[in-house]
Amino acid sequence: MRIDIITVLPELLESPFNHSILKRAKEKNLLEVNVINLRDFATNKHKQVDDYQYGGGAGMVMMIEPIANCIESLKSKQDYDEVIYMTPDGELLDQPITNKLSLLKNIIIICGHYKGVDERIRNHFITKEISIGNYVLSGGELPAAVLVDAIGRLLPGVLNDESSALFDSFQDNLLAPPVYTRPEKFRDLTVPEILLSGDNKKIDEWRLNQSVQRTRERRPDLLNE
Ligand code: ADE
Repeated sequence: MRIDIITVLPELLESPFNHSILKRAKEKNLLEVNVINLRDFATNKHKQVDDYQYGGGAGMVMMIEPIANCIESLKSKQDYDEVIYMTPDGELLDQPITNKLSLLKNIIIICGHYKGVDERIRNHFITKEISIGNYVLSGGELPAAVLVDAIGRLLPGVLNDESSALFDSFQDNLLAPPVYTRPEKFRDLTVPEILLSGDNKKIDEWRLNQSVQRTRERRPDLLNE
C-alpha cells in the first residue's frame, strides 16, 4: 500500500513511521509512506499556503491552489483510491473504517491546519473526511499518523502473528480479553488457573467470556443488547 501525506509540517511526521510495526511494514515493502511538503507546491514567491478568510473572521484558511497542484501532481503519476482529509468534523474513525481502508492500494491524506482548507478543496478533490475523536487538535498531522498506524498494522504480512489483529479490541465489536505473561506469581498476584491449564477450548471460552464481560462493563454501546 502507498500512502502520500500532504502537510505544512513534514518534520512532525518524520518519526512515527520509523519504529516497530510500521518500520517493519516499510522494510518488507508492504507499506510506502511519502510525506510531501505542501509549500513545495505554493505558487507565489513567499511560498504562501494560507490566507485570510473571505467575509472576515479570525484564523487563516489553507489556499486551494497549492493543495490542488499537489494532488494533481500526485495523480499524474498514479491513481488513488481515496483522497482523505483529516478534520474534526469528519466521519469518526473506527475499526470497520480502518479495516476497509487497509484493503486499498494508494491513498492521499491531507493534514488540515489553521481554520482548515478552502471549502472548494473539500467539495471537489476530497473523497473522504475522517476525525479521530471529538476534540480539536492543532493540526491534522497527529491524526494522519494515527490513521496510518491503524491501517499499516492490518496489512497482510505486517504482524508477526498473522492472526493477532483479528483478536484486537473492536474486531467483532468486542474489547480484547485480559492478557498475562511470566512470572506465574508476582508477590501474591497470580495468573488465572485456566490460562495455565493447556486446555485450548476452555481457554478460548474463557477469553470470549472475559471479552463480553469487559465490553458490557466498559463499552455497553458496542453490544447490541
Ligand atoms: N484535526 C484537528 N483535530 C482533528 C481531529 N480530531 N481529527 C482529525 N483531524 C483533526
